[in-house]
Amino acid sequence: MKGGIFEFHMCRLVTLILWLCIIARRETGVLVVRADCVPVTGCNALAYYSVKTGDTIVALTSRFQINEKSLQAYNKNVTNVNVILAGTNLYLPFQCTCLNGQLVHLFTYVIGSTDTLGSIANQTYQKLTTVADIKSASNLDNANIITTGNTLSIPVKCFCGDPKVSRSYGLFTTYVVQATDQLAGVATNFSVDATDLSKLNSDVTSLTPDSIIFIPTRDANGAFAPFNEYVSASVRCSI
Ligand SMILES: *[C@@H]1O[C@H](CO)[C@@H](O)[C@H](O)[C@H]1NC(C)=O
Ligand SMILES: *[C@@H]1O[C@H](CO)[C@@H](O)[C@H](O)[C@H]1NC(C)=O
Ligand SMILES: *[C@@H]1O[C@H](CO)[C@@H](O)[C@H](O)[C@H]1NC(C)=O
Repeated sequence: MKGGIFEFHMCRLVTLILWLCIIARRETGVLVVRADCVPVTGCNALAYYSVKTGDTIVALTSRFQINEKSLQAYNKNVTNVNVILAGTNLYLPFQCTCLNGQLVHLFTYVIGSTDTLGSIANQTYQKLTTVADIKSASNLDNANIITTGNTLSIPVKCFCGDPKVSRSYGLFTTYVVQATDQLAGVATNFSVDATDLSKLNSDVTSLTPDSIIFIPTRDANGAFAPFNEYVSASVRCSI
């Protein structure tokens, strides 16, 4: 009974969001949120990050705006956050939101004195983003000039699953393909089915270095979180 009422309200909320999208589209021509994200409400997501010499947890939690607790929840084998060795791979949790019809998160980054857009995209954020995407998200003009102390928006793409492919997966890691990666090897290393991995990434079969793929990942409890049925059901009942 309670669940039913909750669902009813969620349904109305989603209807309202959809209406606001349509109104925003009509009135301003500017899309703030569009209903073509699946699901429209976004989801939790993770970014795969390989610790480099000089990285500290304090620096990483600040760079990715996460708290130490949630970092530990997704990285159970990190027993001492004060000692984090280069080469350790981390799952960094973040909120995947719908922005201009795209699932993405905007991290906030304060420009340091030795930074360039290239170093921020390629080293600081390990190619989870690109120079072009930072420029677009931060409204920079064409020049690559950045000013120490200014703030940039760093967009990192994310994924919430595709119920048409599989309802078993609802939590994904944004992963940057490395030079020697092959689909089968990545599937093995991340303990996912290679066919599922391919289908969930637009039927990719050969991986392009530096491209982004989304890997189904176990949640903090160690189980694959299913696609968020709840929201998709609500959207269905509202239209
Ligand atoms: C935890 O395990 C993952 C995957 O096995 C590995 O990549 C990572 O480096 C490990 N972290 C630590 C601190 O051992
Ligand atoms: C950053 O990486 C891209 C490929 O992902 C490359 O084309 C570009 O030259 C790199 N930029 C810098 C400054 O390293
Ligand atoms: C899989 O893991 C092995 C051993 O840690 C590593 O050498 C290899 O590069 C990994 N492959 C991929 C595709 O991640």
